[in-house]
Amino acid sequence: MSWPEDVGILALEVYIPKTYVAHDELEVFDGASTGKYTIGLGQRGMGFCSDVEDICSLSLTAVHGLMERQNISYSDIGHLQVGTETIQDKSKAVKTVLMDLFVKHGNTDIEGVDCINACYGGTAALFNAINWIESSSWDGRYAIVVAADIAVYASGPARPTGGAGAVAMLIGANAVLSIDRGLRSTYMAHVYDFYKPDLNSEYPRVNGKLSIQCFLKALDVTYKGYKDKAAMKDNQDVDLSYFDFMTFHSPYCKLVQKSFARLCYQDYLADSTVTDKLEQFRHVAVEDTYINRDLERAFISHSQEEFDRKTAPSLLIPKNVGNMYTATLYSCIASLFVNNSPEEMLGKRIGAFSYGSGLAASMFSFTVTSDLDKLRPFCNDLSHLSHHLNNRIKVAPEDFEKMMKKREQNHYLPNRTPSYPANRLSQGTYHIVQVDEEHRRTYTRTSVLDTLHKAPGGTTNHDKCAAHYCPHM
Ligand code: ACO
Repeated sequence: MSWPEDVGILALEVYIPKTYVAHDELEVFDGASTGKYTIGLGQRGMGFCSDVEDICSLSLTAVHGLMERQNISYSDIGHLQVGTETIQDKSKAVKTVLMDLFVKHGNTDIEGVDCINACYGGTAALFNAINWIESSSWDGRYAIVVAADIAVYASGPARPTGGAGAVAMLIGANAVLSIDRGLRSTYMAHVYDFYKPDLNSEYPRVNGKLSIQCFLKALDVTYKGYKDKAAMKDNQDVDLSYFDFMTFHSPYCKLVQKSFARLCYQDYLADSTVTDKLEQFRHVAVEDTYINRDLERAFISHSQEEFDRKTAPSLLIPKNVGNMYTATLYSCIASLFVNNSPEEMLGKRIGAFSYGSGLAASMFSFTVTSDLDKLRPFCNDLSHLSHHLNNRIKVAPEDFEKMMKKREQNHYLPNRTPSYPANRLSQGTYHIVQVDEEHRRTYTRTSVLDTLHKAPGGTTNHDKCAAHYCPHM
């Protein structure tokens, strides 16, 4: 078998929950000052799941959707990994639950289990899948990577930075987005910025300020590493002009704008020939640069036009759905292809920064195919996402709070059936049928012919509730 060329992403399938809470309404409900969540954090909406969904159902939905939309055979998959930090079982991988889809088609020969480290697990799984295809272990089949999470925080300042969702990626040779070989830069360290030591709770312990500093430091280090590798490999000088688009893990969109400005600041430091009004920031001590608001504001303003072009289009899903932990970065990449035409994406270079607390971070990049016939179907497959975002069910903050309470009380309990009606989910969505006395879960999928709000044999009382959450359901 010959060395495979252009290994990377062939197709993306994004699953966004049907329910969300609006950040402007959440501000009022939480008693936060007007604009704190919408301007200060840069968010518009936060997707969330009721008690009828869990990490396995999200992953099942994304993988089944991918297989269906791409119309490929289940026997063509030889590697499947899940990146997640939503721990439902301390031993049994989410991947094993996904095997239900493959076993019924006679395929049990699939490598890979789960990758865990906060928001980084999806990237670790992606690197593993790409490594498999580029290795002597490869048997010629495709790999699938799933990045999925339910990001929920206890009431308080971190709660508005939650979200939920899943991205399934089909990985193979001759890809639409091929990963740039030899240009992966990684930074890992031991820090308690965000972690989940209480195994009876879905909520993390989080030191918000520390997590932001760790994020920005990891960005500095991986950017420098990426530049060094490009210089060594291709004798290439890298600055922001090298990337046509730049994507970041997005815990909230304001941090992404700060991150772009931070790279612009690093470029400024690297070029000692420039002297202008930003010169005053050249000699700020490194540790102070993370908290120096004047510096931050100056470089946000300096990089605004470039940010609007290269990064803002990647924030469609993160702005409206929030932090999906492992899935967020890949939802940014999907957003680029929703907001730009195939012609605008043709042959372009996309930079990617992945961050997971604790911590693990990498910077890497993709080159988009120059073959328009290959790119058009890739974009078409993502075009339904804007419609989906605009047709979700908006839940009032007080009802969202009640649903979070219910999740807290029930999430790890055996012997239960979910209370949220599954017929309110999008078509093709997997959901929990039952958790038995031994904690074993069973799942089923909503019909792909939409029966939303329709009970067999007639209409329900909730026919008028299509655009909002009806709390008595
Ligand atoms: N109008 C406009 N802006 C406002 C307003 C207002 N009325 N009120 C506050 N702001 C601004 C603040 O100035 C601040 O901006 P800045 O970051 O530029 O200084 C921003 O809104 C947030 O306000 P803070 O008071 O700093 O927010 P708080 O401390 O309450 O919480 C935080 C923010 C730390 C992000 C919290 O939500 C959190 O802990 N989230 C989880 C951790 C996280 O996401 N970390 C990021 C990396 S790790 C990861 O991905 C999980």
